[in-house]
This record gives sequence, structure tokens and C-alpha cells, in this order.
Amino acid sequence: MTKPVNGFSKLNKTEKINWLSENYLDNSAAAVSVLKQYWNDDNDLQKLHDEFIENTVSNFYLPLGLAPNFLINGKYHVLPMAIEESSVVAAASKAAKFWNERGGFKATVINNKKIGQVHFLFQGDFSKLDKLVTKIEPKLRESVKPITRNMEKRGGGILNINLIDKTEELENYYQLFVNFDTRDSMGANFINSCLEKFAEVLEAEAKSNPVFTEEEKNLEVIMSILSNYVPECTVRAEVSCPVNELSEDSTISGEQFAKKFIQAVRIAEIEPYRAVTHNKGVMNGIDAVVLATGNDFRAVEAGVHAFASRNGKYSSLTHATIEDGIFKFWMEVPLALGTVGGLTSLHPLVKLALDILQRPSANELMEITAVAGLAQNFAALRSLITTGIQQGHMKMHLMNILNQNQATEEEKEEMVEFFTHHTITHSSVIEQLEKMRS
Ligand code: MEV
Repeated sequence: MTKPVNGFSKLNKTEKINWLSENYLDNSAAAVSVLKQYWNDDNDLQKLHDEFIENTVSNFYLPLGLAPNFLINGKYHVLPMAIEESSVVAAASKAAKFWNERGGFKATVINNKKIGQVHFLFQGDFSKLDKLVTKIEPKLRESVKPITRNMEKRGGGILNINLIDKTEELENYYQLFVNFDTRDSMGANFINSCLEKFAEVLEAEAKSNPVFTEEEKNLEVIMSILSNYVPECTVRAEVSCPVNELSEDSTISGEQFAKKFIQAVRIAEIEPYRAVTHNKGVMNGIDAVVLATGNDFRAVEAGVHAFASRNGKYSSLTHATIEDGIFKFWMEVPLALGTVGGLTSLHPLVKLALDILQRPSANELMEITAVAGLAQNFAALRSLITTGIQQGHMKMHLMNILNQNQATEEEKEEMVEFFTHHTITHSSVIEQLEKMRS
């Protein structure tokens, strides 16, 4: 059995790899060489990546793909997408092309408020606590001036500070519920710094409040942290066109397509098992843009799924109707994104991704990202209700299977040709490859 290691973070990179190799990889030279193979030749660039996190031993690549021809609010965009799933970029590009011929996507930011909370316990008279919070609000705001000054210059800052009574759900539990405008930054550090200062001031003011009893003076802050649930930081993306313009081939009319499509959306609206997969398809598009632009995809995922259950039952993020012969497909999602701060000015590929998007504001990035999600969902549903998902998916996955089996360029070419007329499954590809090779 391997022993726990002490002072691991103090070892240098090579020492860390040696320890790993000795203790977990049977001293495999091949494993070590895989780790080293992914190091960047440019020492400065490698150092930059090493320092993003603790205990870095290598880099973990994801493909960065481009989905061109996204017509959004009348302007063309190329979407940078970082994702490993074979069919996602192809599907996005296909959906972009489809809607580009039908007026493109419209997207609008509805609101852009971030939320943070100081969670605390208070035992005593609520009205006295309420009075204290009202009285110290200017002091709370003043206490964070050194943090908010720059944000205020950019037009952002602290919006409201409210006291919330949660004692019906948890004994003695209250919150300072704070709204922030963080402009073009995602704002996590800004929000958390403000909240921690508020917590300090609140505790101190309670302690020295002459009208509080001893018990009331013991107001105890449990934690101070932003919320990744941002139902007031939402964006709407939509497409629409006359129903008869929906069909691209003779196998299905525009009307049949629209009806089947709407049924598929309805199913995801009422059936959580389907809704989760349906929304996963939306997130294929959203996450890929979020990652490429250096934003926090875990925060976005958590917030979006909470939003999808806001009415008490997990449901579809997207919706569709036909009204007066017009097919309409839309989505509203919460997306707390930033285009300044964080990784955006540090990671060279993130900077490039933002350049590709023509240096968008946070609101513009919200619009673009929501469109990527809507497009992805459209592409998935379109396949699901017509050819089935596997046809397109396996076409893209074919290359993965061929690479896993070390196919040469000539073999790949021949196999791609063969499988334009045959059904792709893992076993059919292996069988055909073996046949070709014998
Ligand atoms: C696969 O990554 C995403 C889909 O399952 C989405 C969906 O079912 O709508 C195709």
C-alpha cells in the first residue's frame, strides 16, 4: 500500500512526477513520457500554465474548434468552442448555417445582477436586528470603498443590501442578501471580498450595539460567499421563421417538422429524465464557449440547472411554439460571464478566443453563449426527430475509432468513403478495418 505524502506541494515538478511514477504508475517510463509530452516548449508559457493551479504536472488539452456563420442580432460571428465531444462543433455550424438562411439568431440580455450572501446566526429580537442593518448600511458601503472604487468608475458596484429572515427554515438563520453590478467582469473575487468585509463590519457593529442584549451581541457569521444561482442575470436567445421554410428536404414537410419538434420540446418540459438530456445538449454549446472564453463552466452549469428547476420540477430550458404560421424557438438562461479579469487576460488562447469574438462586452458574450446553447439544442432535436442522433454522431466518432486503431491516412480515406454508404457502429468499423488490412 502507498503511504500518504507530506509536503507534496513543496516538491518541484520533476520530483512530483517521480513520486507519482514510483507510487502509482509502477515506475512506468511511458507514463512519465506522456506527461512530459504535453509540456510546452515555450518555458514562459509553460510556467504560466503551471502557476494557474497547485501541483501542476502537465497540461490537459481540449480541442479548440470554430463554428462559423453565426448571424446574431444582424452581425456575423465565428464561435470558438473548446470541447472534446466529436459532433458538437459540426452540429453548431450546421444549425448556424440553417438559421443564417432564415434571418439568424436574436439575443437580448434581460438583466445582469449578481448575488452574494453573508449567512449568519442571530438569537434575539428581529426588529432590533433590522434597525441595526438599516442604520449600518452606509457604514457597510463605506467599508468596501477601496474595493468598489474602480468598479464604480466603470458604472458598477453594490446595488441593494437586504436583510433576509430565514428562521422559519433554520433556527436563528439570517442573511445579508446583496446584489452587485460587476460590469464586464464575472466578479467572483470582487463580490467575495465585499461580502467578507460586510461580515466583519456586521459582527463588530452587533458586538458594540448598546441596545443589543449579550445574546444578540453574539451575532455569528457562518460564511460569506457569492451565489452561483443568478436568476437575475439572464439572457434570451431566439429564432423564428415561417413554418413552411423549416423543411430542407422532401422527407418531411415544414409543418410536420415543426409539430414534431414542438412535441419533443414539450416532452422535455414535462419529463425530467428527458429534460436533463435535452438541457445537456444545450450545455454542449454553452460550456464550449464558456470554456474557450476562460469563464467558470462549473458556476454556469450549477446556475443553469438550478434555474431549470426553479418551478419545483426540473424542466426544459428551451421552448417552442407556432403562432400565425410562424415557428418560434427560444430560451432564457442565467449566465454570469466575464470578458475582463480572471483568466481573460492571462491565458493566451482565452485572449485569442475573445479577439475572435471581436472583444465582446460581458452582455454580448452572454448573448453569443446563449445562442450557442440554443443552436446546439436545435441541432440535436432536429437530428433526434428525423434521422436519429447516431447518424451524425457516429460519422464524427468514426475518426476517433480509426485513430484508436492507428489507421493510416489512406485507411481513413477509404473507411470514410465506405461508411458514407454503410451504418457506423463500433464493431462494423473494426470489422471493416480488419477486412481492409487482411
Ligand atoms: C449529446 O451530447 C447531446 C444529446 O443527447 C442532446 C439531446 O438528446 O437533446 C444529443
